[in-house]
Amino acid sequence: MSTQVPDQTDEETETDAADAKSPGEVRREEKRARAAEAEADAAAEEAEAAESGKAGENTVELQVFRYDPEVEGKQEPRFDEFHVPFEKGMTVLDALIYARDHYDSSLTFRHSCRQAVCGSDALFINGSQRLGCKTQISELSAPVRVEPLPHAEVQKDLVVDMEHFYDQMEAVEPYFQTDELPDEELEEQRQSRENREKIKMSTRCIWCGACMSSCNVAAGDNEYLGPAAINKAYRFAMDEREGEEMTEKRLEILEQEHGVWRCQTQFSCTEVCPKDIPLTDHIQELKREAVKNNLKFW
Ligand code: FES
Repeated sequence: MSTQVPDQTDEETETDAADAKSPGEVRREEKRARAAEAEADAAAEEAEAAESGKAGENTVELQVFRYDPEVEGKQEPRFDEFHVPFEKGMTVLDALIYARDHYDSSLTFRHSCRQAVCGSDALFINGSQRLGCKTQISELSAPVRVEPLPHAEVQKDLVVDMEHFYDQMEAVEPYFQTDELPDEELEEQRQSRENREKIKMSTRCIWCGACMSSCNVAAGDNEYLGPAAINKAYRFAMDEREGEEMTEKRLEILEQEHGVWRCQTQFSCTEVCPKDIPLTDHIQELKREAVKNNLKFW
């Protein structure tokens, strides 16, 4: 009598042994699968960028505005071309730094933090006010044209005179003022959550001047306070901790001939603000406050 064990049982036992992987092996396999997936995604992204004709190829063509009033032969405004090797994640500021360091050390532009905080590298890039350090080359169509901020005097290459902009900011007294100071010890000035939320966006201004440069009204009226200064005034006028007298004084400053009423609600400042501040909304709200302030019922 035969005692043969069926073949199928042998096969199942072998398969079970092969499937029984250690947790370490399973983790390694998962890791390998994730790496392969990320690689495939990156390759697909690169292929897409190359296909769309945007910077994604090996070189970026920069057309940079040049002007130097102090050097003979460079006093006529012109555009210089630079071909910069493209790297994934490259910003316009990175490309300018590369061009300066490798091709022309006289190329002049401002920058500092390289992370959209200091506001010093606001430029006119492909026809729009933007921060060089926040603008990805891969988002732009080639060639990338870089110019100084419009409506400001050019000092050299991409550097403009910011004096007028700072004067307008100073005109609204951009600092916190209470009606009276405590006599003795300084007390904590508490602010409600709601009030903090209200002024939150207005506190994000980095004084880059992009809004002022984009404003048609500011371009035609040199005395107009401009969106940045009005936003700064909003930041303090709406702060519940500031004194009533000061709020009234601020509204008087804003109501002057070249203040809030000059705004034509074109939204260009709001569109270009690199910190997404709703500048036009703030100006409109201050207009309403100014009207309320003048309507007195006895
Ligand atoms: Fe500071 Fe761009 S370098 S905001």
